[in-house]
Parts: sequence; structure tokens; C-alpha cells
Amino acid sequence: TPSTAPRIAVIGTGYVGLTTGVCLAHLGHDVICCDIDQRKVDLLRAGTAPIVEAGLEDLMADAVAAGNLEFALGNDPAVRTADVVFLCLPTPQGDDGSADLTYVTSAAREIGPLLPSDAVVVNKSTVPVGSHKVVKAALGRDDIAVVSNPEFLREGSAVHDFLHPDRVVVGADVPDARERVSALYSSLDTEMIETDAASAEAIKYASNGFLAMKISFINSVAALCESVGADIEAVARGIGTDDRIGPKFLKPGPGWGGSCFPKDSRALVSIALDHGYDFSLMRYVIEVNEQQHQRMVHKITAAVGRNDGDRLDGVTVAALGLTFKAGTDDLRDSPALRILRKAQQRGAAIRAYDPTVQGDLDPYRAGQVQNFDLATTALDAVDGADVVVVLTEWPEFSTLDLAKVKESLAGDTIVDCRNTLDPATVRAAGLHYSGIGRPN
Ligand code: UGA
Repeated sequence: TPSTAPRIAVIGTGYVGLTTGVCLAHLGHDVICCDIDQRKVDLLRAGTAPIVEAGLEDLMADAVAAGNLEFALGNDPAVRTADVVFLCLPTPQGDDGSADLTYVTSAAREIGPLLPSDAVVVNKSTVPVGSHKVVKAALGRDDIAVVSNPEFLREGSAVHDFLHPDRVVVGADVPDARERVSALYSSLDTEMIETDAASAEAIKYASNGFLAMKISFINSVAALCESVGADIEAVARGIGTDDRIGPKFLKPGPGWGGSCFPKDSRALVSIALDHGYDFSLMRYVIEVNEQQHQRMVHKITAAVGRNDGDRLDGVTVAALGLTFKAGTDDLRDSPALRILRKAQQRGAAIRAYDPTVQGDLDPYRAGQVQNFDLATTALDAVDGADVVVVLTEWPEFSTLDLAKVKESLAGDTIVDCRNTLDPATVRAAGLHYSGIGRPN
């Protein structure tokens, strides 16, 4: 009997597209993931995920073996027989802070003439409010509905987040198209939020904006804790137990980064401005985040006995962690890189270790860590350095052999920008500890 499972084409195999495609196949749908990058398609066909994402390769192998997942170079002919097409393309930040829709609209223009008449196009890419209309215009098809189905996947736990979502948001102005997309998720035990297209698009930006605000807030409270001698860990626990606030995203750190929050928070300001509203709260959230990078540089300066504003000539910084958070190999908009570049501008030499930034780097990654001396172990980075700065919360940093650190470090301080070490243990090893919002 012929399969009645909907045929899905996913355009773009970045971490959103690949996770979406693999997980939809895992849920039993027939999926083809398309990409224009021959190298990626070759890797995927060989069973290798081009990104680090927990559990992804296993699910991918299972779905390919079960016969409901394939990979294709280009979108034609896959989209000609698709019931639902997911657009999972990059929306980089344009010069004015707004999201650049070029990749999305050019894909829509390409597939418009190829789609069968009952197809539905789904926007998974993070696109400005109102983009469903732009995509529809680019498709050039009156008969095809565009549905907004934003993703809430965290890098590193994208597979888990897809299969165990807090909610799935599906927004469309055509009820039938909305129902067809909602039905794809019917086997997930979750709350379905069904809205019009513009509301679904707004939910995505408002979610990321709110989460960024939560982190900027806790980083500001951490700064206050440092001034008044309070402990941010206790304060975060104390406020997070209030159900209305919640304990998550209250971890102080070097500032938020990654491929989403920086871009989406600026886009939110820009979307609001385009419609005549000054979203000043969001502007300050971004400003506080930039101040946080600067505050980390001040901590490094203080740790080597220099005054604020002093240069760091002759100082070697052992940087532990370069990715924007643990559990990913992503360096995009990483606060670690921003902070280290600021230290470098003041004359510091950077000796860095990150478990995912090793060996022969591709040109993009190599460019990101240009002029850093890359070490192969954490202790190797520390050897002879003047200060240790923990920038990413990789679990291995919380179990560092502190006796060895003490022995091989020329200086005497660990600046822990992630509060990942236990201050008492660091002090017991004869080192100074400088964390975020923790008493000295
Ligand atoms: C974020 C959102 O969490 C996802 O829901 C969303 O789908 C995704 O963006 C997206 O728009 O695609 P992600 O960028 O992978 O996911 O990273 P997060 O885990 O949210 O962390 C973002 C940044 O905030 C990181 O730099 C992280 O270190 C920082 N952070 C996070 C904190 O400093 N403190 C916290 O308590 C939590």
C-alpha cells in the first residue's frame, strides 16, 4: 500500500533544518532534507552530521535505515512532490540591525513555480513580523498558504527540545494550512498554540527578547551583589523559586551570545522602530549585555593587579572555553571572543583552550580565533599564564586539577565568568577566586 504519510521537504540543513528534518522523520513522516552545499550533503549521506548536536546522528541513522529520511543537493525535484515545505534558512543581521531575508525569499522564488497546488510552505527561520506576506509574494502563488512555525531549539539540546517542547506554535491566516502543520506534531505530548501568522512570528521574537532580558537582569543583579557583598547564587535561587519568575535563565555569566539572542534582540528593536515604536527596554537589555563584556575585561585587569583602564601588555591570559556556551562548537557571537579581543586590544596575549576548537580549523573558525595561541588541553593553556579566565561552562573546567593549575600558573587568580568553580575549593588550592556576583 502506498504511504499516506505527508511528504516533507526541509530546505536548509543548518542546526534548525537538520534537527527539524531528522526529528520529523523520527516521528514517522517522509522527509527529504535539501541543501545547496555539496560538502554538507555528502557528509549527511555518509551518516555524519556537520554540526555537534547531542543525539542527532543516532536518530538520523535510524530514520535513514527506516527509509523515511533522505538528503538531496538542491531543492528540485524534492519540492515538486512535497506536501509541506519547511524553510530553515539563515536570516543574518543586516547593517541596520534588521533581519536579512535574502536567503528565505530567494528560496521561495525558486520553489514557487515548482510546488504542487496543495502544498503548504512553513517558515521556521526566524523572520520579522509580517514575513509570511513577503514569502507568499516571493512564491508568486495565490493557492499556497504560508505558515509560521517558529522553533525554540537550544543549540546542543535541539533534539531533546524538538521532541519534548514546552509548546508548539503554529500560526497561519488559513485554518486548513494551520491544521495540516499542527497535525505533523500530533504524536508529541505538548500544548499546541494556534494563532494567526503575525502572532506566531511575534511570539518567536518576544520569547528570545524576554530570555535575553532575564539574563541581562540577573547580570545586573550580580553587579549589585558585588557592590553590596551579597551572593548572586543565593539571590537567583531566592527569586527563581517564585513560580511567576521561574529558576531558568537566571545564571549570571559573561553576557549572552550565540547565533540567536544578539541578532533577534536587535531585530526586535528594529521591527518596533519600523512600526513607530521605540522599544527602549530592549535597547537597554542589549546595552547591559555589552557592559557585561566590559565588566569581564575589568575583572581580568584587576586580577593581574592593574587598574581599570590600564593596558595589559606583557600579560598572558589563559582562556578556558571559546564557544558561546557549553555543549556546542558554535563560535558565532560568542561573548568569550568579544572579551578576549578586548583584552587583546589592551595588549594581552591569549592562550586559549576549548574542547571543540581543535586540530585543523576550517577558515571561518580559524578567522574567529586569529592571533590566539590554541592549546590542546586546559592545563596546557594555563602553563606559564598570568591569569586563568573561564569563559564557557564546559564540565571539565569544574574538575580542573587545581594543584597543577597553582603549580604551572605564573599568576595567582582564576576569573570564573561562569561561576562554574567552587570558590572555597579554589581558595583551598592557594589561588584567588574572582567570580560573577560572588563575595570575594
Ligand atoms: C536560544 C533559545 O534558548 C532557543 O529557545 C531559541 O530557539 C534559539 O535561541 C533560537 O532562536 O534559535 P541558543 O542560542 O541555542 O537558544 O542558546 P541558549 O541556551 O538560549 O543560550 C543563549 C546565551 O545565553 C548563551 O550565551 C548562554 O551562555 C547565555 N545564558 C543562558 C546565560 O548567560 N545565562 C542563562 O541562565 C542562560
